[in-house]
Amino acid sequence: MAYFLFLQFILLSAISSLAYILGQAVPPPPPTAATTPPSRAAQEFLDEHNKARAEVGVGPLTWSSMLAKETSLLVRYQRDKQNCSFANLSSGKYGGNQLWASGMVVTPRMVVDSWVDEKKFYNYANNSCIGDDKCGVYTQIVWKKSIQLGCAQATCSKGPATLTICFYNPPGNVIGEKPY
Ligand SMILES: *[C@@H]1O[C@H](CO)[C@@H](O)[C@H](O)[C@H]1NC(C)=O
Ligand SMILES: *[C@@H]1O[C@H](CO)[C@@H](O)[C@H](O)[C@H]1NC(C)=O
Ligand SMILES: *[C@@H]1O[C@H](CO)[C@@H](O)[C@H](O)[C@H]1NC(C)=O
Repeated sequence: MAYFLFLQFILLSAISSLAYILGQAVPPPPPTAATTPPSRAAQEFLDEHNKARAEVGVGPLTWSSMLAKETSLLVRYQRDKQNCSFANLSSGKYGGNQLWASGMVVTPRMVVDSWVDEKKFYNYANNSCIGDDKCGVYTQIVWKKSIQLGCAQATCSKGPATLTICFYNPPGNVIGEKPY
């Protein structure tokens, strides 16, 4: 440890003498926005989506801080102004999935797993859902042309409950197209 601290000290003095020689402040490290790994929750959303995609040979989604911000605004609006009810996603420019869960804390993994559970209702051969069951949430998750993901969660006061919203860009579930 002492050795490590010592090394750090040497490094720091090297940097300050460099700054001195150059006659200016050491430039700050490059902005990390593009390379910052997403938060732990974001990573979990991403990993669970990409696991489901890999199972059917579809490439991974990447995290979009822009989509994450949009979902964050929306989920907070639903919480604060709409009694934590589902958002109306029908006219949005992104694909969207949402989940309302009460009585427990739902982790991103639990949310995505519950969505991926719809897989059993999806029939790839004729690209339709089996019986009266829905499978559009699953087909959005594995939609090949959707490449970006952003998600957010809000804890609702009543319940307690959690509302989760994910956005996908470009949107999937284009009528007449198969997801992959
Ligand atoms: C809000 O949601 C809670 C829980 O679902 C419900 O009990 C309550 O009646 C709702 N309030 C309004 C104003 O809709
Ligand atoms: C959602 O929005 C669409 C388009 O704006 C509208 O036609 C539809 O009635 C809305 N659905 C609900 C449940 O409010
Ligand atoms: C798709 O195929 C399944 C299995 O063969 C069948 O049960 C279902 O009715 C078909 N759906 C449509 C919309 O053709």
